[in-house]
Amino acid sequence: MALKLSVIGCGYLGATHAACMSSLGFEVIGIDTDANKVAMLNRGELPFYEPGLDSLLASEMTTGRLSFSTEFSDAADADVHFICVGTPQSKDGLAADLTYVKSSVTAIAPHLKAGALVVGKSTVPVGTAHMLREQLAQSAPQADLAWNPEFLREGFAVEDTLRPNRLVVGVVNDRAEAILKDVYKPIIDLGTPWIRADLPTAELVKVAANSFLATKISFINAMAEICEAAGGDVTVLAKAIGYDPRIGSRFLQAGIGFGGGCLPKDIRAFMARAQELGANQALEFLREIDAINLRARQRVIDVVRADLSEDLTQYKIAVLGATFKPDSDDVRDSPALDIAVQLNAAGAKVVVHDPKGIEPARKRFPDLDYRESVLDAVKDVDVILHLTEWKEYRELDPYAIGTLVKSKFLIDGRNMLDREKWRQAGWRVHALGRTD
Ligand code: UDX
Repeated sequence: MALKLSVIGCGYLGATHAACMSSLGFEVIGIDTDANKVAMLNRGELPFYEPGLDSLLASEMTTGRLSFSTEFSDAADADVHFICVGTPQSKDGLAADLTYVKSSVTAIAPHLKAGALVVGKSTVPVGTAHMLREQLAQSAPQADLAWNPEFLREGFAVEDTLRPNRLVVGVVNDRAEAILKDVYKPIIDLGTPWIRADLPTAELVKVAANSFLATKISFINAMAEICEAAGGDVTVLAKAIGYDPRIGSRFLQAGIGFGGGCLPKDIRAFMARAQELGANQALEFLREIDAINLRARQRVIDVVRADLSEDLTQYKIAVLGATFKPDSDDVRDSPALDIAVQLNAAGAKVVVHDPKGIEPARKRFPDLDYRESVLDAVKDVDVILHLTEWKEYRELDPYAIGTLVKSKFLIDGRNMLDREKWRQAGWRVHALGRTD
């Protein structure tokens, strides 16, 4: 008999996981406490933007295998329950807020059938899985718990779920591993590496991976600062060091740094947990990684002030990009939006464009002036800031844009635009980490 699955928490991670597991042939029920979200998903509509997931969800809904509900009791006949709820940064510190993880395990416990396996996918501080397993041993001794971190990137969520570069499972016994092998058989059959770990190691793999990625980005942004001070070009430097296979060229794109719902909060939560464990020295370097990252945002503001004026009240600025990266509508901890907000707070007239992120950005920061069209956004501006590298910005015609602005001044915060093309069209271009 095929396993029945439930997915608890239907945000980016959960909705993707539910649709992908349905596409592998499983009967899947997604549970979320947000009735609006559940209603949308049941209509086959995605509450956020993720390339390829909208069509996958719509087609899976027609199979009859996939459904969504607000009632935990509707998941009672599932064999495996994936916990996919968020673990945001807590309001009063660096640590992760485990409220949703704890409440979802508490809510599902009374409905777990004999032999059911609860599988955490959320990113949690090391030790959480052990604590939840103990909790389940009291409230639902007929069930077991495992941890299976996900590594999906927004913009590539479906690809990363169905063709991940590894599967990591934290288990306490062979039975839990066997169940997860059943679930992931089609993916394992593609040759995907399978790593069995204990619970703490499985939890740590995720935060270690994100810490490494954050470190790589902040490393290259630190080199960008040095290049600016010494008259070098960080893009050439990144290319040159990237040819060394021990270093690798990916995640060496210098610019305004990392944001989103994962990297920033994960490194902070990791530091907070290390402190609790008495191992804070081991992760002191992450404080510097965070500081370099936030400095990258500030450097753009410094360039604007140095070029225009300390007093920005007379200036109009176009910000191209609001999301934390392209091909997403996610504006959580977005460096682009942060810069826009800071410049706005400093008195500049800031006009923001984004292909997908305007509505989510407006919800968070209603005071900014948002425009649906780039041509509208750049009208009469003193400077254009290119802050999220959407493809459509690379295709802009600098001659046409040049006829609309007040001053042909461009700051490329992502080092992705063709500087020569813009310069030939009469633009002054400042790119982060490049001095010429
Ligand atoms: C990240 C991890 O990549 C993923 O494995 C994990 O599961 C969740 O967190 P995501 O948040 O979707 O995924 O974004 P990612 O593609 O990693 O980019 C993070 C941020 O770093 C973005 O703001 C991006 O613009 C920035 N970045 C990335 C750089 O500034 N330079 C780079 O070279 C790469």
